Amino acid sequence: MKKAWPLIALAAVPFVLLLAAQSEQAVKAGDEALGTRRYEDYDTPRFCGTACHTDIFQQWTQSMMSQAYTHHWDEIEYFRLAVPHAEKDPAMAQAQEGCNGCHAPIAFLAGDVPPPRPEKNSRANESVSCDLCHTVTGFSGDVPFNFNWISVPGKTKYGPRGGGDSPEHNLQQSAFLASSEFCGTCHNEKSPFGAWVKATQLEFQEGPYAREGFRCHDCHMTYAPGRSAAMGNTYPDVRQHLFHGAHDPGKVRGTVELRIHPDIREAEPGETVKFTIVLFNQKTGHKFPTGSVEDRIVWMHVEAQDSKGQVHHLPVDKKGFPGEDTTIAGEALAYQDMGIPLGKPDFPGVARDGVPAGDRIFRMAYFDPQGRMTIQQWNTKSFGVDYRFGPRESKIETCTFSLPASLPPGPLTVTAALYYQKLIKSIADLLNVPAEEAEPLKVNEHSTTVMILD
Ligand code: HEC
Ligand code: HEC
Ligand code: HEC
Ligand code: HEC
Repeated sequence: MKKAWPLIALAAVPFVLLLAAQSEQAVKAGDEALGTRRYEDYDTPRFCGTACHTDIFQQWTQSMMSQAYTHHWDEIEYFRLAVPHAEKDPAMAQAQEGCNGCHAPIAFLAGDVPPPRPEKNSRANESVSCDLCHTVTGFSGDVPFNFNWISVPGKTKYGPRGGGDSPEHNLQQSAFLASSEFCGTCHNEKSPFGAWVKATQLEFQEGPYAREGFRCHDCHMTYAPGRSAAMGNTYPDVRQHLFHGAHDPGKVRGTVELRIHPDIREAEPGETVKFTIVLFNQKTGHKFPTGSVEDRIVWMHVEAQDSKGQVHHLPVDKKGFPGEDTTIAGEALAYQDMGIPLGKPDFPGVARDGVPAGDRIFRMAYFDPQGRMTIQQWNTKSFGVDYRFGPRESKIETCTFSLPASLPPGPLTVTAALYYQKLIKSIADLLNVPAEEAEPLKVNEHSTTVMILD
């Protein structure tokens, strides 16, 4: 047995383990699996979903799993940045092939890389498909990352329930599919420079939810009574294939709760009032943001509205920790390394943040080998300070407001709002990524009042 197995042995049913261990010897995983299969080895999602697994199929169709290869930003980043980058720098070639290991896994297994463009309607468009996940028997190595899942296609499908073979296939119960490590095979990623550019499962593993026995499935594939197949049995706990995350506003909304209070309730113009904001991550099992952290930002904007309706922006107080600069919005340019794939050696970069200067940004900056901020995760060598929200973490921010002499008497309402954005706007604009990808989403807000005296 290889050393990976003790990790999941705790949870695994012994005979499944044995089976998986046997097939592991014969089957290649990760980079080595390139070109080891044919497309025909895998059933299409339509085949699985037309007559039998109709609800699951429709859920999957609406999730990002079914669009991992075809979604606009994926297509743009792959064909305009990753592929040309690999052509200019051979050290990036494996990273460019590797995109498909997670985004178009059956194309990767079939050796069809780079796959045809999405408009060609090839089988790469199936993205992360039913039969890829349901033929996974385990993973190779110690840590799940960089598509090191092991897929053994065939008549046996792995899932939560064994026995009771269906007319179409044999069913084998799998403890591995039920584990968070399974998700980690694609949701953890190491760059060619050895940097953990995606670490959702590792973050989860270190956090409170894993200790309490939660798994990714408990929040992203929730259970409900019903049937999993049109003709099948009714179960109390059918796994819903929701996979809802950053692209579901309802999932993101309310992730962090915030409450703001002043240090005094009455003040005169010219006095100073300090506002404290407590921000609590009540919803994620991993950090927020997680996953494509190079693209994502969460930021807090604080505004005061006086009794005459005039609005005053309150910049956040600096705390003075190392690397804080990347967590306070400013006017800097960044992302110069996109000049390599874009064929512009002197590319000056684009706006680093694109949100009001002085707002606090909850993020982790990615740096290229030259130490410049990058969104090309394959070109990432190091990181800035990690100023994201851990699971169930509370952070405290303050804004010190010197009340202008002209402030009118009456109530001053101060509102702290938290926003989330999937992609930095300047990058979306540069690469013509549809606006929805850079649309700010209000996660939450809260207000407080101070009385301004004459
Ligand atoms: C074969 C690789 C693979 C496996 C295994 C996998 N995922 Fe994913 N997942 C992806 C890819 C690739 C995306 C990104 C799709 C996109 O936006 O391009 C994704 C997207 C998601 C999203 C949506 C994020 C968003 O932006 O809305 C969620 C949630 C998610 N996965 C959860 C899971 C869970 C839970 C598991 C385990 C049960 C899992 N994934 C297993 C590859 C995988
Ligand atoms: C306690 C509930 C919970 C658990 C457990 C959990 N998640 Fe999430 N996840 C969320 C919520 C809420 C969001 C939406 C906010 C966000 O985008 O982070 C989310 C978002 C995501 C996203 C999109 C993140 C982004 O910002 O692009 C991915 C991908 C994801 N989860 C994968 C996973 C994986 C993989 C696991 C297990 C290792 C997991 N989640 C465990 C609640 C959970
Ligand atoms: C990203 C991987 C992934 C993809 C894609 C995926 N599944 Fe699943 N599926 C799972 C996991 C994980 C489970 C639950 C494992 C557990 O909890 O033990 C599951 C459970 C199931 C079940 C059993 C449900 C139950 O509770 O009895 C069926 C049936 C199923 N999937 C069919 C499909 C079909 C059909 C598709 C495509 C339309 C699909 N799956 C796509 C990972 C996936
Ligand atoms: C180890 C698996 C893995 C590899 C390798 C990988 N990705 Fe991803 N990618 C993911 C997952 C999982 C997500 C979803 C994370 C999230 O929702 O935050 C994702 C998200 C993305 C997104 C953001 C999608 C969106 O709509 O926000 C883009 C673009 C992307 N990947 C492109 C690439 C490119 C280009 C490569 C190759 C250079 C690559 N990926 C390599 C797993 C991978």
